[in-house]
Amino acid sequence: MKTAHNAPRRAFLARTALGAACAMTVPGLALAAGDTKDKAATPGNPLDALTALETRRSVRAYTHEPVSDKDLDTVLAAAQLAPSAANEQPWDFVVIRDPKTLAKVGDINPYAAFAAKAPAAILVCLDTEKEDIPGMGILDVAMSAENLLLAAHGIGLGAVFTGVYPMVDRMEGFSKLLDMPENIIPVGLVVLGHPAIPGLRTAEDRVKPENVHWENWAGKRK
Ligand SMILES: Cc1cc2nc3c(=O)[nH]c(=O)nc-3n(C[C@H](O)[C@H](O)[C@H](O)COP(=O)(O)O)c2cc1C
Repeated sequence: MKTAHNAPRRAFLARTALGAACAMTVPGLALAAGDTKDKAATPGNPLDALTALETRRSVRAYTHEPVSDKDLDTVLAAAQLAPSAANEQPWDFVVIRDPKTLAKVGDINPYAAFAAKAPAAILVCLDTEKEDIPGMGILDVAMSAENLLLAAHGIGLGAVFTGVYPMVDRMEGFSKLLDMPENIIPVGLVVLGHPAIPGLRTAEDRVKPENVHWENWAGKRK
């Protein structure tokens, strides 16, 4: 490929600290936007995978009910079942339940200040010493975080991913707050709890045919 064509790609790599960006798979959604309360998870009856994909939304308000150890173990296991480059599994997780620590999250990321009223949060991290392929670890951790979000939703919890990487001040803020070693990169904080508003919601229509290219960039579906 000619250098000129690569210029935007090089610019993209230059502005990302590890030369990679979060990539999330967009599933083919089947449900129309609106409530699907009849499908809500109940204790012991998790959602099936596609329903979980179709109805996962960010939840930022929670009841006072604590998140049980069992539920935390479920979402932490799901996070660690994610695919990773060369199966490097470069992730670490810091579970935060101390209200005093949760109250300080807003000082680091004002867009995550609602963590002060959440029963729990999980900082999803990259351990650069576990990363075999430089730059891929961020992608691995992003996939792990999506697994965590979907598992939380699947068992009836509400969760939201709040961004840390690549904002240096947020990365440093969490490293300091949680006394983390230098090889650990905080990537995102998943805030979670039992949703204050029960029921399931679907997203506005995000499935756009124009986002999909067939066989080559200009190709249409045959
Ligand atoms: C990389 C990333 C960073 C995000 N950071 C924040 C954040 O700081 N605060 C927040 O409330 N939500 C944050 N979100 C959640 C998005 O706002 C949310 O996913 C988006 O609006 C789509 O809504 P949905 O999750 O309900 O489908 C973030 C999501 C991603 C993927």
